[in-house]
Amino acid sequence: MCGIIGVVGATDALPLILNGLGRLDYRGYDSGGVALLDRDTIWRRRRAGKLSELVAAVGDAPAHVSVGIGHTRWATHGAPNERNAHPHLNGDGTIAVIHNGIIENYLELGAEIEAAGCERVSETDTEVLAHLIGLYRKDGLTLADAARKALGRIEGSYAVVIMDSTTPEYIVAARNGSPLIAGLSDTVGFVASDIPAILSETREIYVMDDGQVVELGAGTIRVTDLAGVEQEPQRRHIDWTFETAEKAGYDDFMLKEINEQPTAVRETLRGRVQPDHTIALDLVKMTDDDFRRFDKVVIVACGTSYHAGLVAKYAIEHWARIPVEVDIASEFRYRDPVLDDHTLVVGISQSGESKDTIEACNEARRMGAKVLAVSNVVDSSMTRDADAALYTRAGLEVGVAATKTHVAQLVALHVLALYFAQVRKTLYPAEALELLDKLRQLPELVEEALGTLDQARKIAAVPEIAGARDFFFLGRGPSLPVALEGALKLKEISYVRAEGYPAGELKHGPIALIEPGTVVIAIATKSRLLPKMISNIQEVKARGTTVVGVITKGDAATASHMDYVLEVPETHELFSPVIDVVPLQLFAYALAKARGNDVDKPRNLAKTVTVE
Ligand code: M6R
Repeated sequence: MCGIIGVVGATDALPLILNGLGRLDYRGYDSGGVALLDRDTIWRRRRAGKLSELVAAVGDAPAHVSVGIGHTRWATHGAPNERNAHPHLNGDGTIAVIHNGIIENYLELGAEIEAAGCERVSETDTEVLAHLIGLYRKDGLTLADAARKALGRIEGSYAVVIMDSTTPEYIVAARNGSPLIAGLSDTVGFVASDIPAILSETREIYVMDDGQVVELGAGTIRVTDLAGVEQEPQRRHIDWTFETAEKAGYDDFMLKEINEQPTAVRETLRGRVQPDHTIALDLVKMTDDDFRRFDKVVIVACGTSYHAGLVAKYAIEHWARIPVEVDIASEFRYRDPVLDDHTLVVGISQSGESKDTIEACNEARRMGAKVLAVSNVVDSSMTRDADAALYTRAGLEVGVAATKTHVAQLVALHVLALYFAQVRKTLYPAEALELLDKLRQLPELVEEALGTLDQARKIAAVPEIAGARDFFFLGRGPSLPVALEGALKLKEISYVRAEGYPAGELKHGPIALIEPGTVVIAIATKSRLLPKMISNIQEVKARGTTVVGVITKGDAATASHMDYVLEVPETHELFSPVIDVVPLQLFAYALAKARGNDVDKPRNLAKTVTVE
């Protein structure tokens, strides 16, 4: 997720831009850039790496410029280098654009602008927009009209800011699916991706809606829709501190990131589920023939990413009929695995920097296997070395306990499983169609599952649960990895003993640990195995436990077996981990908060483990 700021009417725009970008530091980024309107030309400077690199490079910037834009990039298209950093310019350098989001039809628009004589100099989707607006300006449209016309042709998500060297009196910004706010002081206009970027200058904020276009002048704002029809923007006075603003008003990054999950899922699906009901994977260096040739998939990962891999096993085996092994990365490389050039090894790592997973992938490559990396970080170590990368698009995750990157991994792996099935033709067309429909519904269902927060808080406050020493998380089939993940989350941030276990296996030993006072969390949403799960719940209830069930909304029969329930919306059984994990994250969060723990920085844990 990129950081964006635009300023009009300042006595000196550059320090405001750099300060604003600095305030967006918490979002993470890999490169940055600024463009300033120096009389009738655009002055631009970009740098890869930290903001300090950019700050060090603007010493020769024109002084006391009143209009400018700035950007910190979190790469989605093209490597995080200077050439791909924003702002992007059109051919004659009269238009500068910064963008957060993904332009899905950029290849089609790119061919059109190239046919019109424009030359692209970056690998980004954003540059296409700068050229397109430039072409419409040459046709005689005003900047605002040219922007509206170009944006109306974009499929995908965006928050953009557009500056034109011939219109120093205003800049244009617009939003569709990516955050954008505007703000005014008496004589200066601001736009930004997030409130902290402009909070030191103004507390009068306009929150933009999707489809709105802002024409921002020195202390003036005009908002229209894409057709140019004037709209009344919503104005808010913000009394947050900077710290609250960074967390978008939430108490912690963890809760903010849990709430960002619908967006993480939506962005991860974007452009991959096509309008013609096919899956398009933006993988490089791996072809459909490769996918047909693989006769085995081996997944390697650690921690929460490993749990995502366990879910993928169910999906790939069921839909694509290929055997899948899932290994803990630190075990894999020392167990003499059997692989060859017909094996696809999928390394899953949100950071792309976990040493154990990187080394497991290296070992697989040495044995002749092809490696596909699933990561949230473009150009991370793991993706650089891999034969192909499939990116999740969750944005930077600050909380040490993985949440939004996990649901994004689950969705990316479901996409991969369906892609495998598509190229290998292992699903009936009607079945594939139904699955794609259900896949598209996931962002809304995750949103609905977030509604369990209040109930999770109430359950966490029940005395026998708040004071419990031992928790068992039980699941069967694709719910087993959900149980494992629920237990891991609770351990990580609440510091209580929590075991994730296959419900059917309990009676083969661990049931000896079950006693009055033990809390059992049962993942009991609708599935083929639900009747068996209910028998397992009766076994633990008979031994005096308190049982909390994650159940399908309205399933009164299953609820009657539980002491407390967390109700989630129904989806296909193989997609259910995406939904069912949400109340478990919220329950772990609620219990940890009730215990006064720092949920963002739990004790003893590092966000990324770069040692073996
Ligand atoms: O960056 P990675 O996905 O490779 O990280 C793997 C694990 O270290 C990570 O999932 C860890 O278990 C988290 N603390 C989970 O919340």
